[in-house]
Amino acid sequence: MTTHVVPDARTAGSLVAERIARLVRAVPAAVIGVATGSSPLPVYRALADLVDGGLDLSRVTWFALDEYVGLPPEHPESYRSVLDRELVAPLGLDRLRVHVPEPGSDPYAAAAAYEADIVRAGGIDLQLLGIGGNGHLGFNEPGTPFGIPTHVAELTHATRRDNARFFPSLLEVPTLCVTQGLGTIGRARAHALIATGEAKAAAVAAALTGPVGPECPGSLLQRCPDVFVALDDAAAGGVEPTGQEIDAVR
Ligand code: GLP
Repeated sequence: MTTHVVPDARTAGSLVAERIARLVRAVPAAVIGVATGSSPLPVYRALADLVDGGLDLSRVTWFALDEYVGLPPEHPESYRSVLDRELVAPLGLDRLRVHVPEPGSDPYAAAAAYEADIVRAGGIDLQLLGIGGNGHLGFNEPGTPFGIPTHVAELTHATRRDNARFFPSLLEVPTLCVTQGLGTIGRARAHALIATGEAKAAAVAAALTGPVGPECPGSLLQRCPDVFVALDDAAAGGVEPTGQEIDAVR
């Protein structure tokens, strides 16, 4: 695990975008897992600049981490719409190469089909991740077993409250989702975690330096062989830079 601590979210995003670009230059048909939420937005902005500079993403296949159950794909806050807006449009991607779970009327079948799609694509080369304030990855809330595949999950009240900022009211935040499981996420061959802001400091510290176990889904990353972490100073608050594990870029 290499952990980079930088002054701001923009710089953290650029570092992660460079990590992604390094993969794509080596493996042009890479399979990349992408995340929603606010954290990855600086990554997508920096990637758009790299595309303007000539980075070719045309052969990459993309898989989203998760999707709400109960929102039609065209709802502005469905993760399909969010990724269309934040990833597909600015990077000029082929929308058909960006896979998002399609819960429709049978989320359980959609979860199984999504897991199968990832396997058929050869698995994920690099999974981009944000982290929830309670340590969740995707929508794998604390207590979720590490080995679980893509599944239907219930959102905790804390996560619904966190995500209420995207909806007119808390009542409209869905209660269920289809999410890549921790087993799916853990099988990715590499990971890039971006976390910014003080509200993430405790979750980051628990994930990177706390005990490994389902109580902190993010702690799964301590078991993964190739993890690139980019934090701003505020999110790194609880992480002690140690030895070569922490590569402080200041
Ligand atoms: C959401 C998403 C996660 C994301 C997390 C943090 O609920 N399902 O994939 O990492 O919460 O979101 P944000 O980056 O907006 O803080």
